[in-house]
Amino acid sequence: MKKLVVGNWKMHGSRASNAELIQGLLASDLATTAPRADVAVCPPFVYLADVAAALQGSAIGVGSQDISVQAQGAYTGEVAGPMLRDVGATYAIVGHSERRSYHAESDQLVADKARAALSHGLIPIVCVGETLAEREAGQTEAVVGRQLQAVIDTLGADLARIVVAYEPVWAIGTGKTASPEQAQAVHASLRAQLKSARSEAAVVPLLYGGSVKPDNAAQLFAQPDIDGGLIGGAALKAADFAAIARAA
Ligand code: 13P
Repeated sequence: MKKLVVGNWKMHGSRASNAELIQGLLASDLATTAPRADVAVCPPFVYLADVAAALQGSAIGVGSQDISVQAQGAYTGEVAGPMLRDVGATYAIVGHSERRSYHAESDQLVADKARAALSHGLIPIVCVGETLAEREAGQTEAVVGRQLQAVIDTLGADLARIVVAYEPVWAIGTGKTASPEQAQAVHASLRAQLKSARSEAAVVPLLYGGSVKPDNAAQLFAQPDIDGGLIGGAALKAADFAAIARAA
């Protein structure tokens, strides 16, 4: 399976710094050699159109960091799927742990956002992951299983069209990466859950996220059930992001 490497820029950037980052990406082998991995970046909403325009014609795709469950209407502050498509997005991240925790997004809301993305022609990247306390209590598989089950129950026959990202909360932005074995174990359980729900969902790409860097990417991506990465901090440096994509 072709690997997928996605950069989540979170709430970083400016027109000037984005232009510099994009210039670096376009000058790297990501844009010039036939990519063996699919690559995309997810800028803040306000820069999405600019970034999509700058990357048009390159092999680098664009996604959003969130999406409304609504298609349009009186929903102040929300951004709808058709708008994201209109400005050139292909992917929509849903259920990132920062949205689950700071914006109280429930498992069901995340599943509804995944459904909204699909219904507007976007590929949802559904994030799941446990906190450190949950891991220490031995609840990792139960927590990610519960988060994924809401998506399984909501999407039905569309399940095979999503991407899942396993992002242990304790590994995000902390410099503490899950070991390849820890990540693989969770990925294997997610794979089994997807497959038992729908046999065709066995091929859903499973990305790992949480302190992926150029020096640990290859080992993570070598695991049988790790199909790529969702990259935070290292996606803000063109050389690091290109090196991670190369490792895939
Ligand atoms: P870091 O790579 O900065 O740990 O962030 C991971 C992440 O949350 C990507 O969505």
